[in-house]
Amino acid sequence: MPKRFFVKSYGCQMNVYDSARMGDLLRSGGHVETSDPATADVVILNTCHIRERATEKIFSELGRLRETKLARAALGHETQIVVAGCVAQAEGAEIVSRQPAVDIVVGPQAYHRLPALLARGPGEGAAVELDLAAADKFATLPLPVRADIRSRGVAAFVTVQEGCDKFCSFCVVPYTRGAEMSREVAAVIGEIENLSRAGVREITLIGQNVNAYHGAGPDGRTWSLGRLLARVAAVEGIARLRYTTSHPLDMDDELITAHREIAELMPYLHLPVQSGSDRVLAKMNRRHAAADYLRLIEKVRRERPDIALSSDFIVGFPGETRGDFEATLALVREVGYASSFSFKYSPRPGTPSADWAEQVADEVKAERLAILQALLEEQRQAFNRSMVGRTLDVLFDKPGRHPGQIGGKSPYLQAVHVERRDAVIGEIRPVLITSVGPNSLTGRLVEARAA
Ligand code: 5AD
Ligand code: SF4
Repeated sequence: MPKRFFVKSYGCQMNVYDSARMGDLLRSGGHVETSDPATADVVILNTCHIRERATEKIFSELGRLRETKLARAALGHETQIVVAGCVAQAEGAEIVSRQPAVDIVVGPQAYHRLPALLARGPGEGAAVELDLAAADKFATLPLPVRADIRSRGVAAFVTVQEGCDKFCSFCVVPYTRGAEMSREVAAVIGEIENLSRAGVREITLIGQNVNAYHGAGPDGRTWSLGRLLARVAAVEGIARLRYTTSHPLDMDDELITAHREIAELMPYLHLPVQSGSDRVLAKMNRRHAAADYLRLIEKVRRERPDIALSSDFIVGFPGETRGDFEATLALVREVGYASSFSFKYSPRPGTPSADWAEQVADEVKAERLAILQALLEEQRQAFNRSMVGRTLDVLFDKPGRHPGQIGGKSPYLQAVHVERRDAVIGEIRPVLITSVGPNSLTGRLVEARAA
């Protein structure tokens, strides 16, 4: 009987992508996927280390998996537990000391070695593989087969850049994902052509710092993200493009004008600012002021006036005063976001700011987070309400919430539900938006675009 594997992904979209590639790798070796960890011979947790809570969740999950492993062992079945991703990279062998049921610890740049690690016999002890040379990984991974891509849907992520050299003082990424590196243009295009042939219509190019992309082009030059986007847009069958996540310092003019020039590039930009206070931004080592960010947003809006904006925010960074926090609220009011992510500052071991003396009390962080989130939620709802009466192109990607409905995404990344009629998954059709719920829009199919 083929071995069954189960993969669970935590954290960001880079992990979702890596989990899919680990799945391809195991399937190419004859494993089959299961959605039930209790029946899996191989259980992979693809972990996130970005905030403390994310890490603690992994250890409670590992505790539960240990029970499953023991129960299966009593019935004569072996279970291999794999910890992959950023907790693996950051904690390494410590994970096995804390939870001895773990068999394999594999970092985000080393998971192409999984088959060899899984083939080790029992009694060889736990394996820890944390090499950070990412170039090997992409060259070695098998391309997914068509049936596997189909099961992933009509919108796919493609990692084009990994790692980060920015060293924001709160962030573990430069340590867990290593130095910044970009994949070659030809490899990226090959992967996207393959996805397109299997029915994918929308591509999101992803990277920890995707707009720092500087990959080797087929012409021997270094290509920027703007140039890469133009090339991806030319791939037959690809109707929509997105990219995430970006740093303000790397928003070059080519990328900004791409928002006007490339029709396939969707009017949505996730551009994290973290804080609206210059003092905090400097201590975070973001290397720009709030006014620089606002100027950037203005520039992007000149190219693409309807662009939907989103950001990440951290409240309660060490030394953040009430005044600093007010500056963040002021920036949010000035920009007007379509959606956002916001977090309480979490000291991460090994990052500079974790050891600073002026840590903010948890109650203060919680209070500020609640105020910020209320404002962001208000803006999100206002943005969604502004869609009523408009006709939006919707890419249908799944059955709807109710029978007879079909669901999809607007250009602004909003979930949209309509009566299905003749619409099918994978199609892009104009939809007149008729009402707005807390988390999605409702509309009806129109035959032609409104003038
Ligand atoms: N504490 C809180 N939030 C963090 N992020 C990154 N590191 C931390 C931390 N130590 C947030 C940032 C980043 C997002 C992915 O996670 O806002 O943009
Ligand atoms: Fe972390 Fe800053 Fe790099 Fe983003 S840019 S991954 S927040 S160090």
